[in-house]
Amino acid sequence: MCGIFAYINHLTPKTRREILELLINGLKRQEYRGYDSAGVAVDSADQKDIAVLKRQGKVAALEEMLQERSVELSVDESVSSHCGIAHTRWATHGEPSAVNSHPQRSGDDNAFVVIHNGIITNYKTVKTFLENKGYVFESATDTEAIAKLVHHIYSQHKDYSFQELVEQVIQQLEGAFALCFKSRHFPNECVATRRGSPLLVAIKTRRRLSSDHVPIMYTNNKATRGVVPSVPRVNSHAHFEPEEERDVEYFFASDASAVIEHTNRVLYFEDDDVAHVKDGVLSIHRLSGTTGTDPHQREIQTLKLELQQIMKGNYDYFMQKEIFEQPESVINTMRGRLNFANGTVTLGGIKDYIPEIKRCRRLMLIGCGTSYHSAVATRQLLEELTELPVMVELASDFLDRNTPVFRDDVCFFISQSGETADTLMALRYCKRHGALIIGVTNTVGSSICRESHCGVHINAGPEIGVASTKAYTSQFLSLVMFALVVSEDRISLQKRRRDIIEGLHELEPKIRQVLALDGEVKALAEDLYRQRSLLIMGRGYNFATCLEGALKVKELTYMHSEGIMAGELKHGPLALIDDSMPVMMIVMRDPVYSKCMNALQQVTARQGRPIVVCEEGDRETAALASRCLHVPRTVDCLQGVLTVIPMQLLAYHIAVLRGCNVDCPRNLAKSVTVE
Ligand code: F6R
Repeated sequence: MCGIFAYINHLTPKTRREILELLINGLKRQEYRGYDSAGVAVDSADQKDIAVLKRQGKVAALEEMLQERSVELSVDESVSSHCGIAHTRWATHGEPSAVNSHPQRSGDDNAFVVIHNGIITNYKTVKTFLENKGYVFESATDTEAIAKLVHHIYSQHKDYSFQELVEQVIQQLEGAFALCFKSRHFPNECVATRRGSPLLVAIKTRRRLSSDHVPIMYTNNKATRGVVPSVPRVNSHAHFEPEEERDVEYFFASDASAVIEHTNRVLYFEDDDVAHVKDGVLSIHRLSGTTGTDPHQREIQTLKLELQQIMKGNYDYFMQKEIFEQPESVINTMRGRLNFANGTVTLGGIKDYIPEIKRCRRLMLIGCGTSYHSAVATRQLLEELTELPVMVELASDFLDRNTPVFRDDVCFFISQSGETADTLMALRYCKRHGALIIGVTNTVGSSICRESHCGVHINAGPEIGVASTKAYTSQFLSLVMFALVVSEDRISLQKRRRDIIEGLHELEPKIRQVLALDGEVKALAEDLYRQRSLLIMGRGYNFATCLEGALKVKELTYMHSEGIMAGELKHGPLALIDDSMPVMMIVMRDPVYSKCMNALQQVTARQGRPIVVCEEGDRETAALASRCLHVPRTVDCLQGVLTVIPMQLLAYHIAVLRGCNVDCPRNLAKSVTVE
């Protein structure tokens, strides 16, 4: 949902060209978060003003604009102190356009400019207040109210520091935000803050820091909420200062992938942190009365991410790369957790909670989109191995229903990004009701990670393509491993557990076999890509593959697609079947095989021409198909890991053939941090 990137150097000389390239690159790395429009704010050539450049479209369009204005921006001049902020947008308030792009400004003089990721829910009240004070708004965004509010507070309190002004601002804001401010009144300073949207600072020093900890003190800010800001002074703070020297570069970003090529030393902010960079010093302030952990010591983390992990390598698209990474990503999910030799499974992140989990009333699996589908895919196995009631819930619907949650519930929050607003809101709701919260995420340091009692990192590696692929199979396996952990002492389930563990052991080469179908899937895509619709049917363990396959087709190809529970066929969808409706069916030799065959026959009896995904060597099923994709057989409950891959490939190839932007489908963003 929008990518934030800011750069501040101190005593590290760089040309303006280098700084602009760095900002553009930081945006490109985060373009998956939003790609409607982009903008930057940098110091003007005479350093007295702020130049704001914005453009509708992708970051490349902004890059072109910067090249056109290179003389005016004095790109060859070297500066050892500079602050630039940059933004790539996924529109929420106001259509994609230059004027609605960020940075948003306080007025014509660009006294204050701000970039924002999130939604301000009370912006209309703030806007009305400011309009009554004479401010004239130019955009349809919620963000513009922030730029004008900081200006208004400044006009009343010229003695305030930049950080104090921002603290005043955020106390008037409701909703979710990560914000970065730059001001003509505070040259070479930057203030960043967050509440509900992700934000980190990366730190690059020439010498290694002698201290790994940032001391945090709480401010005693007594400001109350309301449109008219009260003006107490912040009276204490602690700051982080490289002890050796202040030759340092700071990067603010929404995502670690934007900074990894510069440094692997990052600090993730918490809600209501206000970070201020001035003269090479980073200070982090906390508003009093804010909740959250109370770390008087913040740890600077060393990212394990490698640059090559976020590069496309020899692939045309990130999504394609991520599909083909699945043999390794599933191994990484299981690494150090599954001991194939003695059949034990350990999930370090939740092991202390296992007794409590075993005593629980029910398991609730909550997520959105693909993450939700991983819950659907594993529900049956969880029911079987834990012998507990298992509810699977779409986070948004779960909240709409005010679903009853109890202290003895165990709630899983499944999220690749760990930042999805609906999932995070559901997490907080369940936490308030006293349930045990387990996060299942792919993003260390994300909000869901931090707010969970315990959790499982799926370790799939960075997923850049907007359409989720490898995260799905890793979420799937993480939940399977959870089921294995909880059933460890069930004598009657030992044979079943051994079979599953054996299946997990053999998964990687089988995934490679499925990936080798790429050519066949491409040929199928060539037959299908002009169609208007594609139905995908299955049941039992493979129903989730139908939902996930249809989601991939929809989001990547803009073609209508529907995942249909084969048992429901005769209750309505059968009416859609004729000789021209493209239908795919997943028919495995599992406990619902004969029922799937019934559905297949019902389709062929109506002149349907089903494309069937079935097991290798299954001639009987293949005989009813107009076309077949054969995947290797594995244990029934793991089959969905193999059947989903042809669907991912199919959606990918159809998207390429239809000329769609595979990594950045229209209207979507990777991380949906607004409800
Ligand atoms: C589909 C897709 C989305 C996400 C959903 C949840 O390919 O990527 O449906 O799965 O927005 O996102 P996370 O998993 O980050 O919570």
